Amino acid sequence: MIKKETVKKNFSKSAESYDNYAIVQKHMAHQLANFLPILSGEIEILEIGAGTGIFTKLLLKKYPLAKITLLDISENMIEACRSKFGEQLDYIVDDAENFSTNKKFDLIVSNATFQWFNDLGKSLLNLKRFVKKNGNIYFSIFSEGTYKELSYSFNKFSNDYKYSQNFYSINLLANVGFVLKEEIFVEEFKSLFDFLKSIKKIGAQSSLKDRKTLTPNILKKVEKIYLEEFKKIKASNYLTYVKI
Ligand SMILES: C[S@@+](CC[C@H](N)C(=O)[O-])C[C@H]1O[C@@H](n2cnc3c(N)ncnc32)[C@H](O)[C@@H]1O
Repeated sequence: MIKKETVKKNFSKSAESYDNYAIVQKHMAHQLANFLPILSGEIEILEIGAGTGIFTKLLLKKYPLAKITLLDISENMIEACRSKFGEQLDYIVDDAENFSTNKKFDLIVSNATFQWFNDLGKSLLNLKRFVKKNGNIYFSIFSEGTYKELSYSFNKFSNDYKYSQNFYSINLLANVGFVLKEEIFVEEFKSLFDFLKSIKKIGAQSSLKDRKTLTPNILKKVEKIYLEEFKKIKASNYLTYVKI
């Protein structure tokens, strides 16, 4: 179970460092933008989990006349967007899993956010209520397999240490919508410490309720297991792009 207060706190803390570390999210944003349909005029778009506005910039480029609403659970992220885009956009601080509105949108989009949902199927059914008749939902998501090297190493060390969250499976994603693309993006780090630091700088550290504290000694032991098994501190990101 993902603890929403922790998600909010972690992302709020990372609002300043996020852009320098969000390499994979930037890649996903460009990929997702390429899948978006050609639409013109004053269409209405809702972007969920806007973060610091990396994907928003691409939306503005693609749909210059659109009316865009940004929603994020973190107030600091929304403030970062407000200072970038000003009053040309609308802003909402809310948990998208419980979101409700009397508006309908031509597009609901989300980059690299839905892995934070506790119940993706239910949340998507809810969000569908706010899509116009011919509208669509497009999203990218970190899916099952992401950080598998990290999970393996922590699990081998001890069942008590679960540093990474669970990710939705490709089967589940294929059930909720049409899978446009799947890819694996591999990153490499100098040390496990650097890898975990990069996760922290984007606010994506585990928000699981039962997370335990890491000590330098534990980190050293887990890094040893990691290097024995994988030779390098590499991190696989399984990325999936979905249309509904
Ligand atoms: C990894 S960041 C992605 C940000 C941005 N879309 C990008 O591409 O850089 C995930 C964002 O989703 C937000 N978020 C996480 N869970 C959320 C929820 N339940 N409702 C709304 N926003 C959420 C976080 O605050 C964070 O800003």
